[in-house]
Amino acid sequence: SNTTTTTDDKLLQICQLLDQNISYYNWVGFYFKNGDKNELKLGPYVGAPTDHTIIPFGKGICGQVAVSNENFVVPDVAAQDNYIACSITVKAEIVIPIFVNGENLGQIDIDSNTPDPFTEADERFLEFVCQKVATLL
Ligand code: SME
Repeated sequence: SNTTTTTDDKLLQICQLLDQNISYYNWVGFYFKNGDKNELKLGPYVGAPTDHTIIPFGKGICGQVAVSNENFVVPDVAAQDNYIACSITVKAEIVIPIFVNGENLGQIDIDSNTPDPFTEADERFLEFVCQKVATLL
């Protein structure tokens, strides 16, 4: 059939759903570990194009989550010294790791143009989304 939905199509649909339904989610994308390299690679996303399609482990909020295996909620990106700016409109960021069989394979990354918008409810919701994403990988 010509109607097969690929994994990337499904991930893009998730980005679109989140971006369109949650007013303070203004850039929504996935980064995944890039083979055996110590870096993340940009996957499907919705929002302004970014130059940061490859992020070394440890660099920026995303690179730190690749190493820490922990959620990272940033209420004010201007207060972070290890931060990669993609757009001057961004005020806050949340990154949640995606685990498959206990292994951190990537993450969902969300930028907000609203200061300090993310609550524990966002963390719990996005953990749930990441668990569903893990079943697609
Ligand atoms: N701000 C991120 C880089 C990715 S952009 O937000 C799309 C970071 O510091 O890792």
